[in-house]
Amino acid sequence: MLLRRRASIAALVGLVSLQAPLAGAADADIAEGARVFQAQCAGCHAIEPGAHRAGPSLYRVLGRRAGSAAGFDYSPALRQAEIVWTPESLDAFLEDPQDVAPGTRMVFWGLEAAERQQVIRFLEHAAE
Ligand code: HEC
Repeated sequence: MLLRRRASIAALVGLVSLQAPLAGAADADIAEGARVFQAQCAGCHAIEPGAHRAGPSLYRVLGRRAGSAAGFDYSPALRQAEIVWTPESLDAFLEDPQDVAPGTRMVFWGLEAAERQQVIRFLEHAAE
């Protein structure tokens, strides 16, 4: 009896772990991105619409023109930058803000490639 129960639990666990990676990969990235955001961005940025801290709100930042959130006092560098935030431009900015927008007031040491992708996935997801 005990043996049989163990066997069926093992079968169940097997099923769950077969299915988990399919649904889990994207969700895991978003969850990891939320952690990166809390640790690396939330000190200066909120995700709620219109909530500006040292940096502008990042609500729906993807698809937005750089320097365009209403009510935030941007540096001339970002206001005048001809950038639209896409996963690609954001990736470059988070690697080296000064390289993408020389003179920007965002003082940031850059993130590893994997963390950049995760936080970008999180920002996309947070706007849904
Ligand atoms: C030390 C404070 C600080 C940290 C930490 C920080 N930022 Fe910023 N960020 C700023 C400031 C200030 C600006 C506005 C810069 C300007 O006007 O030149 C900005 C601007 C931005 C912009 C441009 C927004 C727009 O409306 O054009 C994006 C995107 C951005 N930050 C993303 C991030 C992300 C993602 C992180 C974490 C990985 C992060 N920032 C961490 C201070 C910070």
